[in-house]
Amino acid sequence: MIQELIVTTQNAAGIIHLAPMGVHIHGDEIAILPFRPSTTLTNLLETKTAVLNYCDDVRIFAGCLTGRRDFALNGLILKCALAHSKVELVRVEDDETRPKLVCKILKTVNHAPFLGFNRAQYSVLEAAILVSRLKMLPLEKIDSEIAYLKIGLEKTAGQRELEAWGWLMDEIEAFKKENAK
Ligand SMILES: Cc1cc2nc3c(=O)[nH]c(=O)nc-3n(C[C@H](O)[C@H](O)[C@H](O)COP(=O)(O)O)c2cc1C
Repeated sequence: MIQELIVTTQNAAGIIHLAPMGVHIHGDEIAILPFRPSTTLTNLLETKTAVLNYCDDVRIFAGCLTGRRDFALNGLILKCALAHSKVELVRVEDDETRPKLVCKILKTVNHAPFLGFNRAQYSVLEAAILVSRLKMLPLEKIDSEIAYLKIGLEKTAGQRELEAWGWLMDEIEAFKKENAK
């Protein structure tokens, strides 16, 4: 199973980095698969630890993809995380494109209850993935997927989802303008 999480890492100088990642979960072992080049990859190889933030505030996902990374933290833990796990790197399966970083979960802590699924959150996550692939996908595919995702968004979004959606749509518009030149 793949869970969409916010992975926080730190380099040897203590600089913290946040990145949304699809983390592969196999019981107490998890795998993070960053595409090269990746700060998450560099940091994990350097310090061997990371925190997985289980987070339903989709602004963090959209924010990381649109240059907003100043979200409140307690050390490596996002203040808005419903729960977090501290993980330790145990094995690297190297690959030119996408190495596999196998980690062991050391500790999981709950902070707040999970309050149920929301379709607009799904829409924002999928739109964030489209934004991460803007240079790879045809614009017609981006437009048709956004049109579909907008249905769930408009029916079910709260303020957080609308704000996150707005950031992503601005990013797509800016990309289109840049590429129309
Ligand atoms: C929901 C979601 C899941 C993602 N999963 C991955 C992933 O598994 N691997 C990856 O390299 N990038 C993934 N991305 C894109 C990265 O978050 C983004 O490109 C990141 O800034 C690049 O990695 P870095 O911050 O470690 O340099 C994902 C983005 C989203 C929105």
